[in-house]
Amino acid sequence: MLVNVASLYVLLLLLKNSHCNKDPDVHDPIETIINRYGYQMQNITVQTDDGYILQTFRISPNGTNIEKISGQPLVIWHACDRNARSLVANGKESLPFYYVDSGYDVWLPNIRGTKYSSHVSLTQKDAKYWNFSYGKIGRSDVKAVSEMIVQKTGKKLITMGHSLTTSALFVYASELPEEASKNIKGIIGLAPAINVYYSWAFKLPSLLPNTIRDTFGVFGMHYIDTGFASICELKIAQPLCEFLVDFSFGKGDNIDVGASYARFFSKENNEPISSQVLINYLQMMHSKGTFAEYDFGMLRNLKEYGKLTPPEFNIKNINVRTDLVCGTDDKVVSCKDSNNTYKMLQSEKSLTMLPNNDKCKGSVAHYDYYMNTDMKNCIFDPVDEILKNYKSL
Ligand SMILES: *[C@@H]1O[C@H](CO)[C@@H](O)[C@H](O)[C@H]1NC(C)=O
Ligand SMILES: *[C@@H]1O[C@H](CO)[C@@H](O)[C@H](O)[C@H]1NC(C)=O
Ligand SMILES: *[C@@H]1O[C@H](CO)[C@@H](O)[C@H](O)[C@H]1NC(C)=O
Ligand SMILES: *[C@@H]1O[C@H](CO)[C@@H](O)[C@H](O)[C@H]1NC(C)=O
Repeated sequence: MLVNVASLYVLLLLLKNSHCNKDPDVHDPIETIINRYGYQMQNITVQTDDGYILQTFRISPNGTNIEKISGQPLVIWHACDRNARSLVANGKESLPFYYVDSGYDVWLPNIRGTKYSSHVSLTQKDAKYWNFSYGKIGRSDVKAVSEMIVQKTGKKLITMGHSLTTSALFVYASELPEEASKNIKGIIGLAPAINVYYSWAFKLPSLLPNTIRDTFGVFGMHYIDTGFASICELKIAQPLCEFLVDFSFGKGDNIDVGASYARFFSKENNEPISSQVLINYLQMMHSKGTFAEYDFGMLRNLKEYGKLTPPEFNIKNINVRTDLVCGTDDKVVSCKDSNNTYKMLQSEKSLTMLPNNDKCKGSVAHYDYYMNTDMKNCIFDPVDEILKNYKSL
């Protein structure tokens, strides 16, 4: 028995390391992928107020003179445990390429903790390096990158986020509302993780977020390694992978598992999750969707925030356009949660539930934005409707 398990394991390792996957988009560097589809990439580095160094990639058609790019800047922020490379994992039908073709000046930032970021003095081994949740990503990363792009383009930005980075964009716009309204025209939130309560994915662990926090603390688990997701690169593992993804993130009916999973879950796109980020979401679930700073525990809260409980982010402060987009079978951020966020907002706003017409058949789930086989009908057309609202801004 033991021998069988061991040989199966060895077989899996061999399969994993054999370069049987011929699809170059699985492992090629991001710039190679971008070039292959006819675009070029500029790489701009910024430093945040707390010392993180973040790379942002600006995409334009091959051969464009960068000095002459004049389109409306559109900044697309990647999701949790992913990086900007994951945004170009859908071949020619990737979000950034579509918007470049539509005339936008497209920017892909990377948040702290990814392969495309570092720190002036800390390394991934330092506890302090991982000492952040979406509060800091919003106040520091979104701020630094947005200021850099405004400075380079002289234009206000349209910002688009998915899941974790919607939380960060909402923090930026509610904590620094004057600055945000100077720098951005609005936020398009794909799977907006603001009032997450009806989420299925977080349901069980949300019973004990602070116990998990303290346990992680005792064991020094500052981040969670999601490298295991690269098992989805293997054909042999894909049925299991599909089951787990459908179960926890929702089942998208227009997803070609064989073609997309290897690309999207590629080890190049996998990133560790800061434990604080994960626990902050569990705390949100536990408090029935309260969008608040990380709860360190009473004593440290007192030191950190000057009170026993973590402060809430007041999204009523947001004074830029906010457009929410949810998939009706998204098990991480449900449309019911998005609707609750929508009702709380006081700025110009919209809520789009996908699919929103009979052209896109079937259901839309958490990862459809990166791997739908009918991007035009399921994603691009509905989001283009939203983008029309920005023409006059
Ligand atoms: C884009 O330009 C790069 C070099 O600048 C080149 O290697 C690549 O082949 C070009 N891609 C296409 C599709 O023309
Ligand atoms: C972006 O530039 C930095 C240094 O300026 C470099 O270390 C990094 O490798 C570059 N990233 C990519 C994807 O080319
Ligand atoms: C994490 O940051 C908080 C302040 O934001 C601080 O109180 C705490 O000591 C930091 N912990 C580590 C391990 O750096
Ligand atoms: C949001 O929820 C309300 C009920 O509270 C419902 O009447 C409304 O139709 C929902 N909005 C959308 C866009 O489904």
